[in-house]
Amino acid sequence: MTRELSALQKARLSYQPKLPKVLRNGIKNLSVEFGCPTEAIADSNDIKEIFSNLYGKPVATFKSGETVISDKPVNVGVILSGGQAPGGHNVIAGIFDALKNANPNNKLFGFQGGPSGIINGKYIEITADFLSEYRNTGGFDIIGSGRTKLETEDQFKDTWNNCQNLDISAIVVIGGDDSNTNAAMLAEFFMSKNAGIKVIGVPKTIDGDLKNEQIEISFGFDTATKTYSELIGNIERDANSAKKYWHFIKLMGRSASHVTLECALQTHPNITLISEEVAASKTSLAGVVNYMVDIIVKRSNEGKNFGVAVIPEGLIEFIPEMKGMISNLNDTLALVEDDAEYVKLCIQEDKYKYIESKLEIHNAEVFASLPKSIQAQLLADRDPHGNVQVSKIETEKLLIEMIQSKLAELKSSGEYKGKFSAQPHFFGYEGRCAAPSNFDADYCYSLGYNAFALAHFGLSGYLSSVRNLTKPADGWVTGGVPLTMMMNMEKRHGALKPVIQKAIVELDGPVFKYLQNNREKWALEDHYIFVGPIQYYGPTEVADAPSKTIQLERA
Ligand code: FBP
Repeated sequence: MTRELSALQKARLSYQPKLPKVLRNGIKNLSVEFGCPTEAIADSNDIKEIFSNLYGKPVATFKSGETVISDKPVNVGVILSGGQAPGGHNVIAGIFDALKNANPNNKLFGFQGGPSGIINGKYIEITADFLSEYRNTGGFDIIGSGRTKLETEDQFKDTWNNCQNLDISAIVVIGGDDSNTNAAMLAEFFMSKNAGIKVIGVPKTIDGDLKNEQIEISFGFDTATKTYSELIGNIERDANSAKKYWHFIKLMGRSASHVTLECALQTHPNITLISEEVAASKTSLAGVVNYMVDIIVKRSNEGKNFGVAVIPEGLIEFIPEMKGMISNLNDTLALVEDDAEYVKLCIQEDKYKYIESKLEIHNAEVFASLPKSIQAQLLADRDPHGNVQVSKIETEKLLIEMIQSKLAELKSSGEYKGKFSAQPHFFGYEGRCAAPSNFDADYCYSLGYNAFALAHFGLSGYLSSVRNLTKPADGWVTGGVPLTMMMNMEKRHGALKPVIQKAIVELDGPVFKYLQNNREKWALEDHYIFVGPIQYYGPTEVADAPSKTIQLERA
C-alpha cells in the first residue's frame, strides 16, 4: 500500500539527522573509556543485592579510536515501551544505520506492540526499505508500543527463548523510567544465566523526568513542549482578543511538572502551578484555590476577566492531604483485590463506600470531600507499573468548580464584582506524536546509533547517553550510564521495589527560579509569548534551539 504523504512529510524523509563528531566515522573508528565504579543514588545495599551482576559498573564514554568488527553478523532486537514520544522512529533509524555500518549483514528485528511483543515473539525484520518511510516522523507506529510490564522470571525466559530463535545478541529498550528499570532486570537475568544477550536502554518520555547528571533530557520533551507551547500561545491570543474567558490548561507530564514549567517559560501565562512547589510549601487544595482566586480577583479589578492558567497533570498527587490519601488508597486497592467481600460487590457506589471504609479516617474525609467524578477517576485502574493514571484525573475541572464557589462567596460579601467564565483544556496526546523537532530528530538518531555502539562494545544494563546538548551536535559527548546508578527503592503496589528515580522540578534550580522571578509580572500584566509552530527549516535560532529548560540547566 502506498501512503499519501503531506508535502512536509515528503521533505522530512530526506532530512539527514546530525550525528556527534565522535560517531560520524562509524563504529569501527570508536573506542570506549571507563570512569570509576558507580553507586546507586540511594538504598545501595538493596540495589546491589538485587543486581548482583550489574551493580557498580562504570560510566562509559566514546572516543575516536579503532575497534575490531568481527565478520560474523549480529542480530539486534528493539522494543518501544510506554507512552509515545516524538523521535522514536529516529532512534530505530540510528540503531539500524549503526548496525549496517558495522556489518551490512547485521539484522534488526522490531518486536511489535511493546514489551509484550518480545514475550510473545511477535516481530518484524526492519529493512532499509521499510524504514525509509519512517525516518524523521513522529509516532511509534513503525512497530507499536505497549505498557506490559516485563518483570517476571517466566517473561524473561520467554524473552530469552524468542531471542535465541532469532539469534539476537542485543536488545534495545526504548522507554521511560519504569521500562528502563525492567530493562535493568532483564539485563541482570541474562547476565546471571550467561545468556550472552546485552540489554541497552534509551531515555524516552515527553515528561522530561528521566534525567540526571549524565542524561540531560529524555527524548520527546523538546517536541512535545514546543507543540503545547504553540497551542498555549494561540489560546493566550484568543483570550486576549475576546477578553471573556479564563482558560485552564492541564498539561501532561505525569508526576513531575517539567512540561508545565517549560511551557510557562515559553509562553508566560498568568498562572503557573508547579506541583513540586505545592508539595514543598505544603499548600492544601484550598490554598491552591485561594492563590488562583487572588490573581483572578486582582485581574478582574483591572477590568481583565480573562487569563490563562497552566496546571501540571500530576498536581493532585502533590497536594499534601491528597498525597496521603492517594498513597493510602493505593495500598487499600492492592489489598482489596483479594478481598472476597469486595470482589463480590457489583455496584460501583458500593465499591467506593467499601474502599472509603478501609481508609484511615482523615484520608476517608478527604476522599469523601471530592466530587464523585474525581473519586471515580482516582479509583480507576493503576497502570501496569502501579502508578495512578493522572492523565485521567480532571484536575482542571476540579479547580474550576472550586474557584467558582469561592468567587461566589466573595461576590456575596462584595469582595468580587467580576465575571468568571472558564474553559478547561487538556494537552497531552496532541504532542506525543508530533513530527520531531530538529533537536529531537538529531538527538534520537544519535541515541540510537550510540545504543548500538554500546552493545557492540559488549556493554549491558546501560542507558544510551548523549550529552552537551546545548552545543551544536558536532560537540555532543556520547557513551553509556549504568542503569543501577539511577536507582533507589520505592513502594509500588504496596511493596518496596527497585526503580529508577524520577527527576522532579528542583525548586532551587535555575528553571524554576526563572519562573519565580517573573510570575508576578506575568500574572497581572499580559506578557504572553506566541511561539508559533515548530519550524523545521530556517535560521538556527528558529529551527534548532533546544528547550529553555536545558538551556538554563546547562548554562
Ligand atoms: P511514559 O512515562 O511511558 O513516557 O508516558 C508518558 C505519558 O504521556 C504521561 O505524560 C501520561 O500521564 C501517560 O503517558 C498517559 O498514558 P496513556 O498513554 O497510557 O494514556
